[in-house]
Amino acid sequence: MKVLGIESSCDETAAAVVEDGCRILSSVVSSQIAIHRPYGGVVPELASRQHIKVIIPVITEALQRAALNLSDIGAVAVTQGPGLVGSLLVGIGVAKAIAYSTGKPLVPVNHLEGHIQAAFLEEAPASFPCIGLVVSGGHTNLYYVEDHGRSTLVGRTRDDAAGEAFDKVAKLLNLGYPGGMVIDTLARKGNPKAISFPRAYLEKDSLDFSFSGIKTAVVNFVRRYVDVGEADGQQPGEQSLKSAKLLPVQVADIVASFQEAVVDVLVQKTCAAAQQFRVRQVVVAGGVAANSRLRRRLEEEVGRLGLHLQLPKPELCTDNAAMIAAAGFHKLKMTGGRWDLDFDAISRWPDLPGYLPDDRPK
Ligand code: KG4
Ligand code: ZN
Repeated sequence: MKVLGIESSCDETAAAVVEDGCRILSSVVSSQIAIHRPYGGVVPELASRQHIKVIIPVITEALQRAALNLSDIGAVAVTQGPGLVGSLLVGIGVAKAIAYSTGKPLVPVNHLEGHIQAAFLEEAPASFPCIGLVVSGGHTNLYYVEDHGRSTLVGRTRDDAAGEAFDKVAKLLNLGYPGGMVIDTLARKGNPKAISFPRAYLEKDSLDFSFSGIKTAVVNFVRRYVDVGEADGQQPGEQSLKSAKLLPVQVADIVASFQEAVVDVLVQKTCAAAQQFRVRQVVVAGGVAANSRLRRRLEEEVGRLGLHLQLPKPELCTDNAAMIAAAGFHKLKMTGGRWDLDFDAISRWPDLPGYLPDDRPK
């Protein structure tokens, strides 16, 4: 069955056609980076307006690239949440219109379940049971994944998500937007051992994360060496690295050391979860899974344990609609149902990914 996936939970408008939950026939992503860059972060109102502008062309292009018409599609899957409510509503509205006019089933999908599904879109897909690390701008979650849509949350961040920490540190250092990718590139020129930022491993055997301490340590380190005030025409309180003549290390060293601290914790907890739950397989997804240092370290450490690591291609780690189409296909198959068209966006989804306890077809 060919499923049309639609994703608009944050700042990417995406549509894709996926066959049988595993073969990508097309995947189109329209990024809003340039729109949000001047603000240093996603502006929800601008995000929804841009989704409205491009969603129909993006869907049309996805169908054209797959050489299909709407009549060839077996079902439509759309991200229901979590995410920005105004953004989610654009995708949901269009998906409902397509489902209503074509009579095809419409499957509401959890965005995080979608991220996990990215690991099943590869040529040699992941297998169950596995440990899934979903590490993005809004989440840092570890799941014990038993089957499609059957995951138990076994660890989560108690404060900032890893991607959020990347974005905040990049903003603090005036490195530009989006932060994660900039730090990834700049860190290649730095020394990861230059500064020893704290790693929060929390209680013994805990699979939870905490990244606010690392972020604050970077803030404190930078403050020590950076003038705070009205220099360079800034507002009081703003910091400028232009006046950071006293910095004892290069900015590349700061970001490399920060990145290493985040990566150390992510890798250690993921490996610990795999050992605690005695799985043979680890899958990693979400925007931060595109990070080159994290990918290298995971390959080394998961490999050292003799386990299989499933790391989707970077373009499948960041937000896309192929993962939503795949998750929709499996949800339809597992529950065998049809959903009424009156479901709403869920901005903050309860911890469980996949199917809500009452999220059964009517
Ligand atoms: O999954 P995603 O595209 O959207 C959310 O669901 O949040 O993840 C976006 C997050 C952002 O915080 C971004 O800075 C981070 O992923 N990110 C990266 C990299 N590429 C994206 N973080 C570190 N290194 C990267 N290469
Ligand atoms: Zn995401």
